[in-house]
Amino acid sequence: MLLSVALLALPSLTLASPTIHKRLANGLALTPPMGWNSYNHYNCAPNQSIIHSNAEALVTLGLADLGYTYVTTDCGWTIPHRTAENKLTWNETLFPAGFPALGQYIHALGLGFGVYSDGGIQMCMTGGVNQTGSLGHENIDAETFVSWGADLLKYDNCWSSAEKGFPNVDYEPLTSPHQNYVNMRNALDATGKNLLFQICDWGVDFPSAWAPELGNTWRVTNDIIPNWRTIFRIVNQVVPQTDYAGPGRWLDLDMLEVGNNIFTHAEEQTHFALWSILKSPLTIGCALNDTLTSVSASSLAIMKNENVIGFNQDALGVSANLTRRYSDEGYDVWSGPLSGNRTVAAIVNWNNHSIDATFDLPNVGLQSAGWVKDAWTNETRKNVMTSYKASIEAHGTLLLELGDTVPVGVYHFDGYVRSGDITIENVYGLTTSNAYEMTIHFSSPAPTPCDLKVNNRRASHQVDAGQSSIIVPVALLAGNNNTLTVSIANPISFITITPPVGEFYPNTAFAISGPGNASHITCVPGLCAPLGVKIGDLSPNNSASLIIPATANVVGSRYVELTYINNDVAISTSWGEGRNARNITISVNNQTTRLEVPLSGRSSELYSSMKGWGDSAVLGVLVHGWKEGDNEVVIGNVGGEKGVQSLGADFVGLKVF
Ligand code: GLA
Repeated sequence: MLLSVALLALPSLTLASPTIHKRLANGLALTPPMGWNSYNHYNCAPNQSIIHSNAEALVTLGLADLGYTYVTTDCGWTIPHRTAENKLTWNETLFPAGFPALGQYIHALGLGFGVYSDGGIQMCMTGGVNQTGSLGHENIDAETFVSWGADLLKYDNCWSSAEKGFPNVDYEPLTSPHQNYVNMRNALDATGKNLLFQICDWGVDFPSAWAPELGNTWRVTNDIIPNWRTIFRIVNQVVPQTDYAGPGRWLDLDMLEVGNNIFTHAEEQTHFALWSILKSPLTIGCALNDTLTSVSASSLAIMKNENVIGFNQDALGVSANLTRRYSDEGYDVWSGPLSGNRTVAAIVNWNNHSIDATFDLPNVGLQSAGWVKDAWTNETRKNVMTSYKASIEAHGTLLLELGDTVPVGVYHFDGYVRSGDITIENVYGLTTSNAYEMTIHFSSPAPTPCDLKVNNRRASHQVDAGQSSIIVPVALLAGNNNTLTVSIANPISFITITPPVGEFYPNTAFAISGPGNASHITCVPGLCAPLGVKIGDLSPNNSASLIIPATANVVGSRYVELTYINNDVAISTSWGEGRNARNITISVNNQTTRLEVPLSGRSSELYSSMKGWGDSAVLGVLVHGWKEGDNEVVIGNVGGEKGVQSLGADFVGLKVF
């Protein structure tokens, strides 16, 4: 049965513009690279025995067999100055056998040898003595790394801002770090050896726009930090750029903290699940084994979970993304496609307490699934229709793989239902409306005229002889709990239900009131799609309102798609409370629904015409409080004074379904 689903509205985050990218095609990293790096655990103090014992552990713990094959020694491996031949060299105290021997050691284990340098005058060096970087020495350094047998280069961004006199870090350099990466790319090419190139400029100047043609991976965000809040910050930055990922080019969410005894078990699962489905490189950052410590069995089990690794390494190579965010309830739904027509869905509980979650399959574009497998427990449920219920631990993630799926809005039955009364339970309503369209598809054209009753109401639905389908309007409440009954003599093969088309209300129709700077802002032509105008500087004290009449019988909760802009990039605040998110509230007749939107920017936060503040995105949310007649709809930032960022996201428009 071939079904056309193009017309079915999927509730999802949509991006302003499609993207065509030039990209590196060096045949490497066709799936996200996996391995181990010294930095998260050992900081800038690696040494030979640390690298040896962790590399061995990759093999003995079975991690190498699962794909974790690159071993990279991060900062702290070299010395302050170059050799007389102007080369980089290793610190002989820390690495007495030398780097060529280190490479041989790693190669003998069947692993890849990763090295680290920096596009500035010195390398990043937290603590310890400053060490020379590769700026201006790209060719000789690339040759040196190749002569040592290196397979991978991680290339950092400290001390690189020439115009400002080479400070340690500069998140707002006057010129982009881009050129430093071009120079090292060219130097690597000149060696003739194909190295995996990992760009690490911490997301400065939106590298997704330029890094895919230079490197196999690029860091999207500032460093991961040893605190749970780091996960929300990082994933909120990735949201508008997931479509830049693909075979050979991956968004690097930074190295894993799994196993570093920072997170709870549930938190480690969430971290690993999101990194996996967002197709980040999986770079282990803990002490797998050294003279003092070894990785715990529970952390190891997370990193060895073959279901989850399988999502990361899936041949399709398409990143998941945020599909719904329930800010008031404290959880997210992320999902993406997998090869073999499978879908992965992650329901992330950001609350500090466990929740009993109901995951509605329509949130990820599906109505039902022949099977749903929990990636952590391997529990498989068969024939899941509309919803999946499970409890999720505090900060934990329900991670599901769905197969034999049916698109949202399509209801079919085992075999043909002949005549009589058919009851369909758990019919999903995206929004509360009496304007859904139900199409009843007959297994063969009606032989004789017959009556159709929906919900026991004998409406004027007469099916004529020869008719193969009939369309009737139905009313549904928002949610997963509707029941429909259909009574008809002619056998039905399946039913489709489509929600009403939404109506768009532009920000220009809203009146601004209250103190503060909120105003309508005219954007650079082509930006703030689809209007060219946005409302900026919404605060807890001001707001924008509009009366929306509801003529149809739509009361209670309605689905709304919010078009917003947020490019409040948490780069300098990344060690503090920075979240890469802003609140926006939609109040209907004084009932307030909050949405904490992620970034929307898809252009340089430093040099593009509106610094990413003209790049809009859409996120759907269920908004409560609607009544028949006039509805007062107010966009603002209610309660924002209690948040990290008191300014709201910018508002472009609202589509009400
Ligand atoms: C930067 C990078 C990190 C790490 C450190 C080393 O912060 O982003 O991944 O390499 O430098 O000091």
